Amino acid sequence: MSPTILAIESSCDETSAAVIQQGNVLSNIIATQKIHQKFGGVVPELASRAHQQHIVPVIDQALKEANIDKKMLNAVAFTRGPGLLGALLVGTSFAKGFAMGLGIPLIEVNHMQAHILAHFIDEPKPSFPFLCLTVSGGHTQIVRVDSHLDMTVIGQTQDDAVGEAFDKTAKLMELPYPGGPLIDKYAKEGNPEAFEFPETEMQGLNYSFSGIKTAFMYFLRDQKKKDPDFVQNNLPDICASIQRTLISMLMKKLKRAARETGISEIAIAGGVSANSGLRSKLQSEAEKQGWNVYIPAFEYCTDNAGMIAMAAHYQYLAGQFASLDVSPMPRMPL
Ligand code: KG4
Ligand code: ZN
Repeated sequence: MSPTILAIESSCDETSAAVIQQGNVLSNIIATQKIHQKFGGVVPELASRAHQQHIVPVIDQALKEANIDKKMLNAVAFTRGPGLLGALLVGTSFAKGFAMGLGIPLIEVNHMQAHILAHFIDEPKPSFPFLCLTVSGGHTQIVRVDSHLDMTVIGQTQDDAVGEAFDKTAKLMELPYPGGPLIDKYAKEGNPEAFEFPETEMQGLNYSFSGIKTAFMYFLRDQKKKDPDFVQNNLPDICASIQRTLISMLMKKLKRAARETGISEIAIAGGVSANSGLRSKLQSEAEKQGWNVYIPAFEYCTDNAGMIAMAAHYQYLAGQFASLDVSPMPRMPL
């Protein structure tokens, strides 16, 4: 049977709800929490309160836009983790109450698995096995995907995520949170070779992004001694150079993973996959290496419930349901 499922995402600072029917995402409503901008990062307690305010109107709108009455639903899905505990609790509690009230099953979804399954929302879809570079504010992983629900992490960051490196370097330049999209924007007008930053090399397919953040801090300190307005006078060049370095680090290990596994179906997922520099680098590398490259639509790159719905669809078909006493899992591994 092809189910109709309501999915809820509340792991960080986006409250989102989506409806999926027979594997087609009918609606995907996302309420972004602007409140964090002035604090330079997500404030967990504020995120949790904002989720409480947004969740009912967001779900209402998702059902309305999909033209689905709640009585038509076969299951309710939610993000169990990884994420912020207080934020996850809002989605988890709501999903439980909703499922209980309607007498339908509950499906718990792993947020990182869902980022990867976002590739199955639109065409073209990757074929198995494929490699997925999952790059977000909390994760940087190379994942081998053997089927919709069979995934293995083959490399990952040992410290900061690449999204964190984007956001923290942006913060050092006094750009508002989240800085990743702004670095992307300014980088378009800059010279990527203007400045050099050291790339940290880790063993195997692993990454490390904490060193570059520290190197960048000292770089700014030294440059500001010579020119106090260094950042204002060189913003596009600085952004283009830091972005080039981060992308180069990501690509080196991805190329190595493709070589070592012999897999040439390559996908990217997660918030940082919205980066235009990474997207174009991946396209140009695809031509050189003979890869088939898969990049999700912007709407499905950053956090959204459409991807949670897609994961829930496959879990429903596999009979993977959660018990009603399930609780959030902030450090849920993939
Ligand atoms: O997947 P996501 O929405 O949330 C997490 O699960 O973390 O990813 C958010 C991250 C943030 O670090 C944000 O700065 C980054 O994705 N990001 C970008 C771009 N758009 C979002 N980083 C670089 N360039 C972008 N265009
Ligand atoms: Zn995410």
